[in-house]
Amino acid sequence: MAINTEELRKKFEERLSQIRNTVEAEGLRVEYLGKKGYVSALLADLKNITGEEKKNAGQIINDAKQFIEKRLAEKQTEIAAAEEQRLIDSAERYDPSLPTDLQLGSYHPITLIQRRVEDIFSSMGFIVENYSEIVDDYHCFEALNIPKHHPARDMQDTFYLDNGQLLKTHTSAAQNYIMEKYGAPVRAIFPGRCFRNESTDACHENTFFQLEGIMIDEDISISNLIYFMKTMLSEVFEQDITVRLRPGFFPFVEPGFELDISCTICHGKGCPSCKNSGWLELCPCGMIHPNVLKYGGIDPEKYTGFAFGLGLTRLAMMKYGIKDIRMLNSGNLKALSQFTGR
Ligand code: DAH
Repeated sequence: MAINTEELRKKFEERLSQIRNTVEAEGLRVEYLGKKGYVSALLADLKNITGEEKKNAGQIINDAKQFIEKRLAEKQTEIAAAEEQRLIDSAERYDPSLPTDLQLGSYHPITLIQRRVEDIFSSMGFIVENYSEIVDDYHCFEALNIPKHHPARDMQDTFYLDNGQLLKTHTSAAQNYIMEKYGAPVRAIFPGRCFRNESTDACHENTFFQLEGIMIDEDISISNLIYFMKTMLSEVFEQDITVRLRPGFFPFVEPGFELDISCTICHGKGCPSCKNSGWLELCPCGMIHPNVLKYGGIDPEKYTGFAFGLGLTRLAMMKYGIKDIRMLNSGNLKALSQFTGR
């Protein structure tokens, strides 16, 4: 009986050309080389022949077996290469020639503190609003109970555009917009970059950040203001913060306050950082003036609210122990990339 593996090889090649992945390739291997496969069946047939013929037939089957093994191995390599290429094609592009000691970027300390405060207020039901850096006189002053020629404007000289618009001097400029947009009740915070005509030194910059907040509802009182500020500041500084209010004048709040916090370094005992007073001035605030509510379309007979203007820049300086405000706008990566590490 003559053994011929030509047909077997041909069929195998045909099947092999249709294989697309490793699972199919393994299936084909079992079909041809497995215990119950075609090659085993051929070998089983050997028992019917003897002598030289058996030897030759055995050789032929063995050759076919090796051929199949070799072709399967080639196919596996081909599939693996195609799979790798597919991954490369679908992956984000990268440049393998870039140096490996490349410094990754990091967040600016103001961004870090802003996100932290936003998270805390969001968790207490406040919405986070955005507002333009270019505003008009009405929003920056008039709607905040600061009419033309009011002395409070002296402290807030800013950069004016030819068309009469100006770079906002404080985030309070968004109060009216938010009251009109949401009406009452409302809880909102709105961080932003502010600008003033300022001679710069270690404590003053012409460009700085604030984060304003308002809460308006029926029966909102100073206790609500104290509660929210204390909660937020304790979270930011990761320690229990005591706050106190001192009278302060701002035309858009009545009464107005300066909010101090117990010194985070000496915990109220008195140290050089708090000029031995045990307190640090942090955040002006107050109960929103009825006129401001009216300008915002909210009935001051029915609603009351508090507002605060947190100095984000100042808060970042306190939180991270930054001594010179000018560092924040310096673009000095060596200094600014220290706050998140890598
Ligand atoms: N806008 C004021 C400023 O930049 C700060 C301020 C004071 C904001 C009292 C307030 C507030 O919301 O109630 O000087």
